[in-house]
Amino acid sequence: MKIAVCISGASGAIYAKRLIENLKEHELFIVISEIAKKIFKDEIGIEFDEFMINFKAKIYDNKDFSSPLASGSFKIDACVVVPCSVKSLSAIASGYAENLISRCADVCIKEKRKLILLVREMPFSSIHLENMLKLSNLGVTIMPPCPGFYYKPKTIEDLVDFVVGRILDQLSIENNLFKRWGW
Ligand SMILES: Cc1cc2nc3c(=O)[nH]c(=O)nc-3n(C[C@H](O)[C@H](O)[C@H](O)COP(=O)(O)O)c2cc1C
Repeated sequence: MKIAVCISGASGAIYAKRLIENLKEHELFIVISEIAKKIFKDEIGIEFDEFMINFKAKIYDNKDFSSPLASGSFKIDACVVVPCSVKSLSAIASGYAENLISRCADVCIKEKRKLILLVREMPFSSIHLENMLKLSNLGVTIMPPCPGFYYKPKTIEDLVDFVVGRILDQLSIENNLFKRWGW
């Protein structure tokens, strides 16, 4: 699959890290905002560029509108914004495509392609909720990272893998990252 992973400036860089690690067999196109790079370094402890050395992914600057991701003529199967800040959520909900992340999401919406937003904020304001509802009604998958606890997670990695496993489910990618209910 061709998958765009867009990383915006919300807490939860570990979700992006773990998702990328689990998409090794796929063609990856990565965009990360400036603030997201800083958060990645703060939360993970290594520079994003250093982490990405191990992967074949194509990485684009968030201002690079010459990237193929900026055009609907370039076919991708899905885009995941992980984590998705409420600022990026707002830009996507209003079609204000002033950077490559919001443009890539905007293209997915207009081309009716799979778009998944891991919106991270707490609590949500009515503005955030309205933006999420608007996008959900357009077919966008809204999945704030809310791990379940029925499989008795022991570690942070268990919690993260539950969320990442559910993203992979949404992408129809087989995975055993978490214990499913009833198994
Ligand atoms: C350490 C740190 C953590 C942040 N966490 C969040 C968050 O969880 N959710 C959120 O919506 N914004 C968060 N922000 C604020 C966003 O980074 C800010 O609104 C920024 O403009 C988002 O830009 P981007 O979506 O283009 O990356 C955080 C900022 C910092 C510095």
